[in-house]
Amino acid sequence: MSGQRRWMALLAIGGLAFCAGAADLPPPAKRKVDFAKDIRPLFQKRCVRCHGAETAENGLRLDERSAALNGGDAGPAWEAGESADSLLIHMVAGVDPDVLMPPDGEKLTGEQIGLLRAWIDQGAEWPEE
Ligand code: HEC
Repeated sequence: MSGQRRWMALLAIGGLAFCAGAADLPPPAKRKVDFAKDIRPLFQKRCVRCHGAETAENGLRLDERSAALNGGDAGPAWEAGESADSLLIHMVAGVDPDVLMPPDGEKLTGEQIGLLRAWIDQGAEWPEE
């Protein structure tokens, strides 16, 4: 009996790990993403209130290029070309339901997450102002 229980537990853990994987992320947008048009307004509208010059939760700023590229307490929030492994994407997609970004208001849509993924995958260009 205990052997069977152990199997059940392993299956449950395996299932959870699978559900939280990249397979569950919305797919990246297929078109060329423009930071100024597609990404900056989203950061400004939904993120900068808590990740800006005045309040930078966990040290992360999304209002200014060089600060943003440094990331936050957990290190860089994205790695160019690797959207499926980027902390920012995991957080907006709610891979860990305890830390969903933004933590208030509407969840980002699949389309918005897809644009963020495509931006990162296409090199995460952030032109100097
Ligand atoms: C209402 C305030 C608020 C808003 C709005 C918000 N965040 Fe956050 N963010 C936080 C807080 C608080 C933490 C720390 C959470 C924790 O570690 O439990 C955090 C942490 C993060 C981290 C981890 C940083 C690190 O290095 O630890 C990322 C990435 C992030 N947020 C991205 C975003 C993005 C992208 C948006 C907009 C789509 C956003 N956040 C909007 C409050 C906010």
